[in-house]
Amino acid sequence: MNIKQVKVYSPGSIANLGPGFDVFGIALDSLGDFVYLRQIQEPVVEMTIKGIGAEKIPIKPEINSSGAVLLKVMKDYELQNGFRVDIRKGLPSSAGVGSSGASAAATSMAVNELMDLGLSPKQLIELASYGEGAVAGHPHADNVAASLMGGFVMVGEGCDVIRMDAPGIGIVVLVPQIHIPNKTRTARELLPEKVNLADAVKNIGHATRMTAAVALRDPVLFGKSICDSLIEPHRAVMIPHFWDVKEAALRAGAYGCSISGGGPSIFAVGEPVGDIAKAMTKAFKDVLSKIFHTQPTNRGAMVI
Ligand code: HSE
Repeated sequence: MNIKQVKVYSPGSIANLGPGFDVFGIALDSLGDFVYLRQIQEPVVEMTIKGIGAEKIPIKPEINSSGAVLLKVMKDYELQNGFRVDIRKGLPSSAGVGSSGASAAATSMAVNELMDLGLSPKQLIELASYGEGAVAGHPHADNVAASLMGGFVMVGEGCDVIRMDAPGIGIVVLVPQIHIPNKTRTARELLPEKVNLADAVKNIGHATRMTAAVALRDPVLFGKSICDSLIEPHRAVMIPHFWDVKEAALRAGAYGCSISGGGPSIFAVGEPVGDIAKAMTKAFKDVLSKIFHTQPTNRGAMVI
């Protein structure tokens, strides 16, 4: 049995970025999770979680994004031993900043390293996205791809991901201190099965312009492309004062503002981040929130 321990850091991420539902993701600087993994004799997954919001995260492996990754590896490779995983959260959970994705990404990278599985980048994304599915009820790769690869990612069919370096720009993330049970499932259930053609056309326009902004390294065009007619109007109902916060961010100089991933966090892109953060917090009135100042990172998950 392998007794070495592997430690991996994985950044959090913002998925969707406005127009790119389930397609776009960006990795976040200085916000992420650490995962420590080793093998154990018993064929089970033992977990501990410490750090931000740890008490809110289930440690039953079947319903934890990290645990689900390890159970899958044990099954797929018919392992006789199990794993002990210790997670140190640097990301708030159920907030929309890719917390479960970061843990799943870090765990996939750690188990690949520990067991010498030789997984390709695409296989790592597939494995981590399976872990996401255990939490969200629906596997999606936008968060895990950004966490694993860093930068700006575009997820295609079958976890076929294109990655580009992200433009440098300030990002403010307002994390509401509200509890939404089964948050990602709930946020997905709010969405309609069919969408309006004119709204779809608008989103395609903004998504293509965002991709061009990344290619051109144009942070202003990037921020101005954060517009979403398909998802935001449906999910805004679960976030108190969403429209006021968005308006305040734009007035304070943000180029764009929308729901971060499945929410309820709200992110804004632009400078000066201090003014934008202050305006957003004020518009959130008496609802408790935490504010994070960050920026994109081009470094994905790494063994440390
Ligand atoms: N693309 C996913 C969603 C991200 O919006 O449901 C969830 O974190």
